[in-house]
Amino acid sequence: MFRPSLLLLLALLSSSLCAAEPTPDKRAPLRLKAQEKAQIHAEMRMFLSVTQKIVAGVAANDMKAVAAAAHEAGMASAGDMPDNVRVKLPMPFKQLGHATHMAFDDLARDAESLGDANQALKQLGLSLDHCTACHALYRIETH
Ligand code: HEC
Repeated sequence: MFRPSLLLLLALLSSSLCAAEPTPDKRAPLRLKAQEKAQIHAEMRMFLSVTQKIVAGVAANDMKAVAAAAHEAGMASAGDMPDNVRVKLPMPFKQLGHATHMAFDDLARDAESLGDANQALKQLGLSLDHCTACHALYRIETH
């Protein structure tokens, strides 16, 4: 009982010592004003909230709720991003953002017409690929 936990402690200690050197952040900075950052963050929280509703809807096999939630994050909501922010965003960022909205529209349409929970989860997975891809590429720097 004692020895394995001591080993675990040593392993944790040595890994935290190795992590003492901070890894440089390789994500590209988007230089935005605090207000513009807040607008991006607000859209992001909407994405997370929609993701939560889709997962809850799938778990309850309520495909109407899944479709309604996915629709909230579709192309119709892309217009919520003000032009002053949009013009500052690099093309790959805009393409990933566009692909994410489109993926939610696909999910909404198929959830409505097929009512297939597994298909919805598969499509949510594709949509989340865009989230992780973009998060790996960009960070916001305010000025
Ligand atoms: C086109 C790029 C892009 C896509 C796609 C994207 N994000 Fe983000 N996300 C960002 C950026 C940039 C930030 C801010 C990072 C920073 O502040 O340095 C962010 C931040 C966030 C935050 C933190 C918000 C806060 O208030 O602190 C959440 C949550 C989040 N994203 C969720 C998601 C989810 C869920 C998806 C997919 C459904 C998604 N994002 C897709 C670029 C993206």
